[in-house]
Amino acid sequence: MCGIVGHIGTGDSADILLEGLKRLEYRGYDSSGIALLNGDSIFVEKAVGKLKNLTDKMAQHTVSGTSGIGHTRWATHGGVTHLNAHPHTSSDNVVVVHNGIIENYRELRETLSAQGYHFVSDTDSEVIGHLVVEKLKTYDKPAALLRAVLEELDGAYALAIITKDFPDCLLVARNASPLAIGVGEDACFVASDAMAMSEQTRRVIYLKDNDYAIIRQEGAEIYDGDHNLVNREEVIVAASPGLVSKGGYRHFMEKEIHEQPDAITHTLAAMTDDAGALTAGLTDEQLQQIKGIVFLAAGTSNYAGQVARYWIERLAGVPVNVEVASEYRYRAPVSSHLTHAIAISQSGESLDTLMAMRYAQEQGLSTIGLVNVDHSTIAREADAILPTRAGPEIGVASTKAFIAQLTALLALAIAIGRANGALSPDEASALHEEMKSLPSMVGKTFSLFDELRPVAHDLARVSSCLFLGRDSLFPIALEGALKLKELSYVHAEGFAAGEMKHGPIALIEDGLPVISLLGSDALAPKVISNLKEAQARGATIILFAAESVADDVDFATHTCRLPDCGEYLMPFITTLPMQILAYLTASEKGTDVDQPRNLAKSVTVE
Ligand code: F6R
Repeated sequence: MCGIVGHIGTGDSADILLEGLKRLEYRGYDSSGIALLNGDSIFVEKAVGKLKNLTDKMAQHTVSGTSGIGHTRWATHGGVTHLNAHPHTSSDNVVVVHNGIIENYRELRETLSAQGYHFVSDTDSEVIGHLVVEKLKTYDKPAALLRAVLEELDGAYALAIITKDFPDCLLVARNASPLAIGVGEDACFVASDAMAMSEQTRRVIYLKDNDYAIIRQEGAEIYDGDHNLVNREEVIVAASPGLVSKGGYRHFMEKEIHEQPDAITHTLAAMTDDAGALTAGLTDEQLQQIKGIVFLAAGTSNYAGQVARYWIERLAGVPVNVEVASEYRYRAPVSSHLTHAIAISQSGESLDTLMAMRYAQEQGLSTIGLVNVDHSTIAREADAILPTRAGPEIGVASTKAFIAQLTALLALAIAIGRANGALSPDEASALHEEMKSLPSMVGKTFSLFDELRPVAHDLARVSSCLFLGRDSLFPIALEGALKLKELSYVHAEGFAAGEMKHGPIALIEDGLPVISLLGSDALAPKVISNLKEAQARGATIILFAAESVADDVDFATHTCRLPDCGEYLMPFITTLPMQILAYLTASEKGTDVDQPRNLAKSVTVE
């Protein structure tokens, strides 16, 4: 979603804020802006579009500041315009950046308008600045002022405010949207993600929900939701600035696709010992207590949960539900047969997933966060953590994080099966050994960048296509369709191959590309019949099949042969070609691969 940054102390605020925004651009890139405070003057600059537009504008100024705030926007309230870009200024005295949604902004806007405040944007955020100006009439201490402002706000927010009235402070607060404070030698920082501050400091304090803080050059004064002055733990984060360059690739996505063997290796090493016993998160005793699981996740992370349902039910005999996180808590779900909720999230910050996990916690379920970001909100609030070790994922479309999630989930399925006796130790070890072959097997699929180029060339010229798979390859078909549509804007739908005849087959017309996934398992003959039915009605079959069954489909227009492997590895091996195909199609169309239109990496609004 939107990203916010702030700085106060030594150093040039403008450079520091722009550098921080660069690292936050993955959160939103509709517009950006910064505000600098220098003595008695406030300077604001904003630009619509990518951060580069702001950087270019800033290069024409010679302003400096010893404190300032910045914002990169993913539009929620109000279109992508200069006026809606943050920061928002009120009365030439108060400047605000905000991430989240102020739910009662209409009432506030009406009241403030009646009091004579003039609104220039369509955003919900603009009410905050006017509210600060209004409260400044009564409050002359920053903490009391901020408290009075927050008491008026409903909704989710991370916000940072500067005002000439308190030139030595940044006023910040969080509720549901992430916010971290960075502690430097002669300066303090604030950001939606610690990664934004990684060039300045690794000493980070994560604010909790309802916390607010007054940040000065020498440190932060933090209050909890009950207005008590509190000490929040300072942690040392590992984010290294060097990890976020493209490393010679054309796009972060291309680089991240190539990092998948490492993501698997590191995740497997974080999850298990060499013999396959789980070393992360849960003891054997705790694994035995898992009698029913609900996965809570959004988008690609949800598809990882859907694959894991096949694995866990098969390998461990434990019932699994997979919930779309944004639906879960609004429909009174029955949890009596379940013991655990597992929130799957790359960022650990998706608000839908976080709220679903909190709801599950209230229902009495033990919660586990399967996250890629160690100190994320989900990681901090879950009862236990299962780590993925994909490293920072910058491309907006999830690639290596998904593969790392699958790795952690297969290791978990094996561990539960071993602990509850559904798998013998030998069976569990054999599966773990198979997993060790994954990095090299996945690495072999990189040659598909060349092979799939002509297929992508054709796909870039169609308006619609279908993805089919069965069993654990059905969620991979869904993932393939999501990757293609979000990156190349080609309409794509994924279906369970056996479901086609119940309706979707009506979509098939001459030349419609049907991207088909085929494993060498017991269901293969049935999938082949489903594909034949589609081909008979004019579909162009583009087949991704395990080597040993590829020739059983003699009617495909293109056959991509994948290494033969056990059924549990097949979802990994079929994922890579889906990513590569989407990447190549997007490149062919010239869309923005790393930052597709309308998207944001971490979705911290409902
Ligand atoms: C698609 C994609 C999204 C995310 C989803 C959840 O390529 O990246 O669908 O998977 O927004 O994000 P996390 O995993 O951070 O909760």
